[in-house]
Amino acid sequence: MSSSEMKIVTVIGSGLIGRSWAMVFVSGGFRVKLYDNQPGHAAKAIAEMRKQLEELEDAHMLRGELTAMQQLALLSSHDDLSQALEGSFFVQECVFEQLEVKQCVFQDVEQLVGTDVILSSSTSCLVPSSVFSKVQNKSRCLVSHPVNPPYYVKLVELVPHPETAGAVIDTTHAIMTKVGQAPIRLKKEIDGFALNRVQAAIIAESWRLVQDGIISVKDIDLVMSEGLGMRYAFIGPMETMHLNAPKGLEDYMKNYGENIMRVLASFGPIPDFFGEGAKSIINEMCESIPSDQHHLSDRRERRDQLLMGLAKLKKDH
Ligand SMILES: NC(=O)c1ccc[n+]([C@@H]2O[C@H](COP(=O)([O-])OP(=O)(O)OC[C@H]3O[C@@H](n4cnc5c(N)ncnc54)[C@H](O)[C@@H]3O)[C@@H](O)[C@H]2O)c1
Ligand SMILES: *[C@@H]1O[C@H](CO)[C@@H](O)[C@H](O)[C@H]1NC(C)=O
Repeated sequence: MSSSEMKIVTVIGSGLIGRSWAMVFVSGGFRVKLYDNQPGHAAKAIAEMRKQLEELEDAHMLRGELTAMQQLALLSSHDDLSQALEGSFFVQECVFEQLEVKQCVFQDVEQLVGTDVILSSSTSCLVPSSVFSKVQNKSRCLVSHPVNPPYYVKLVELVPHPETAGAVIDTTHAIMTKVGQAPIRLKKEIDGFALNRVQAAIIAESWRLVQDGIISVKDIDLVMSEGLGMRYAFIGPMETMHLNAPKGLEDYMKNYGENIMRVLASFGPIPDFFGEGAKSIINEMCESIPSDQHHLSDRRERRDQLLMGLAKLKKDH
C-alpha cells in the first residue's frame, strides 16, 4: 500500500471510545469516517467533538500539528456502513462489548472492504480468536486495546490473533506511533491482555489487605497515588528494580528476590468481591466519595484534569 492510500480510517461505533479514537486519528492527520448503526449518533458525536477540540485548543492541549478547525475538517459522520468504509485502509471497531455484536460487525465489514484493509478491535475483555472467529481472512485482524481516556493515556495494547500477519502488527504499530499513541506488542493472545492482568493483581492484593483489616480503603489508594504511582508514571516495575540496586536488576534480585518470594507465598486466594466481605469495603469507599452522579462526575472531571496535566508533563520530558 502506498502512503497516499493510507489516509482514511473508519471508526465503527461513536460512543466514548469511538469518539476518542476519532480525535486521536485526526490529530495525526488521518481522515476519519465515523459510523454508528444508530442513525444520527455519529453526527451528534462529531458536534460534541467540535466543542471538545475547541476547548482543547484553548487550553493548549490539542494534540498534533493541525488546528482544531483543520482537524474537524478531517471528520465525517456516516449512517451507512459501506459508505463509511469506502477508501479506508484501517478499521477501528468500538461497538458494545458483546461478542456476537462484534462478530457480526466484522463479518459485515469483511464483505465490504478489500483484502489489504486492517481490521482492528477496541475490545477490553475478548480475545482476538473469539472476536474474529467469523472473519475469513484472519491474517489482517488484531485487537488494538486503548486505555480510557485514550486522548491522555496513550498506551495501546496490540494483541494478535494466532493467524495475524507480522506485517499487520508492524503497520498498526507505525500508525499508532504516528498519531502519538504508545503501542506495545503482545506476542500471543491471553485473557486480560497485559494491562488488565497487572491491574487484576493490584486490585486483588489491595482488596485482600482491606478485607483482612490491615489497611483502610483510603490508605491503600495512597499507597499507589503517593507511592508506587509516582514513579510508575515514568518508569515501570522492571526499570524501577534495575535502578534500585547498586548493580542493577540481577543485584536487586540477589538482595530482594527471596523477600519477594516469601511475600508472594503469603498472598491469599481470590478475594470476595460480591458477598458480605465486599459490603464494608464498598461502604467505606462511598463514605469518602458517595456513588451518586454528582459526586462521581466531579471526581471524574478532577481525574481527567489531572491526567491532562500529567500528559503535559510527560510531553515536556
Ligand atoms: N470505556 C472504556 O473505558 C474502554 C476502554 C478500553 C476499551 N473499551 C472498549 O471499547 C468498546 C466501546 O466502548 P465504549 O465505552 O465506547 O461503549 P459505548 O457504549 O459508549 O459506545 C458504543 C457505541 O457503539 C454503537 N454500536 C453498537 N452496536 C453497533 C453496531 N452493530 N454497529 C455500529 N455501531 C454500533 C452504539 O450505538 C454506541 O454509540 C468496547 O469494546 C469496550 O470494551 C472501552
Ligand atoms: C489476507 O489478508 C492479508 C493481509 O492483509 C493479505 O495480504 C492477503 O492477500 C489476504 N488473503 C486473501 C486470500 O484475501
